[in-house]
Amino acid sequence: MSRTQILGTGSYAPARVLTNQDLEQLVDTSDTWIRERTGIQERRQAAPDEATSDLAVQASLHALQMAGVAPEDLDLIVVGTVTPDMPMPSCAALVQAKLGARRAFAFDVSAACAGALYALSVADQFVRTGQVKRALVVGAELLTRAVDWSDRNTCVLFGDGAGAMVLGPGPASDDSPETMAPRGILSTCLRTEGSMADLLCIPAGGSRTPVTADNVDANLHKLKMNGKEVFRFAVRALVESTQASLGAHGMHPGQVDHVIAHQANLRILEAVLQRLEIPREKCWLNLHKYGNTSSASLPMSLDEAQRAGRLKRGDVIAMMAIGAGMAWGSAVVRW
Ligand code: COA
Repeated sequence: MSRTQILGTGSYAPARVLTNQDLEQLVDTSDTWIRERTGIQERRQAAPDEATSDLAVQASLHALQMAGVAPEDLDLIVVGTVTPDMPMPSCAALVQAKLGARRAFAFDVSAACAGALYALSVADQFVRTGQVKRALVVGAELLTRAVDWSDRNTCVLFGDGAGAMVLGPGPASDDSPETMAPRGILSTCLRTEGSMADLLCIPAGGSRTPVTADNVDANLHKLKMNGKEVFRFAVRALVESTQASLGAHGMHPGQVDHVIAHQANLRILEAVLQRLEIPREKCWLNLHKYGNTSSASLPMSLDEAQRAGRLKRGDVIAMMAIGAGMAWGSAVVRW
């Protein structure tokens, strides 16, 4: 089986900037509190006529261009999102139509902020087995429409964006026994703890609690979170899954050149890096600009790091993400 390589990356952030000062006008908060507790300074908000698939398409076009792959050559599109344009059809189907990727089969993956990592792992299986030659993986999210703008515990944290990756099989020579350092996706490790579903959820809008006028009045169609518990769980979980995905390839944190992580809170990332004994400078940070963009944040970070020239051929990248579910995981990629 040949190893999957990331052939192109892309990202898109809507133009409108919402600063911490803007949020001071909406809820009882302060720029200082948000910066000190989260590291976030501003976030992006999609225009009223933009939906998640529009963000996804912009990021995908950048990734396809870098990979030199035409939309009609795609075999598979997987979109990680919990804020699709509508409950059905999938966001991926809409992306497929907008790109004109006629040959691709397309579906969404629901793993909240770990959505792009889950989607990457799913697409990797198709590519490695040879069933698919060209796959598009997207993390796209429009969380500013899912947050309760009267809840200061959550509304200051999230933003909109999309990131994309084009995958394909690496050359067989890259994976021969003589190759000491094969390039591509070396391992992925996915985890779920469904007993913690209540920690972070959107209660209404599904079969359990359909959207009714009363439920909307009670704001049950908006995101609810126990931030403290999510924080505690996230640190332990990300450390364990990263150690597991490195260990699966006989590697250790000291061999990591870059960390590309879901950006939820700077303090979570610092705690994870400290426990893994990985210097903070190795972690690409952009949450000061975008806030928590959920499934978009990992592929957006990868694209920014790549376009900034940070990633050199052969570098080892540790990816990690966690979100509602709880769903989380890690991946190790040799660039
Ligand atoms: N502005 C000002 N004060 C705020 C506030 C805001 N935006 N949000 C909460 N507070 C208040 C709380 O009401 C609380 O006040 P109280 O002590 O009078 O009750 C106080 O700040 C401390 O709240 P606490 O929850 O202890 O803060 P924290 O240090 O845990 O930080 C989070 C809160 C949400 C930033 C933090 O818990 C976090 O980031 N958790 C993880 C969330 C996350 O990443 N979710 C997505 C996962 S993908």
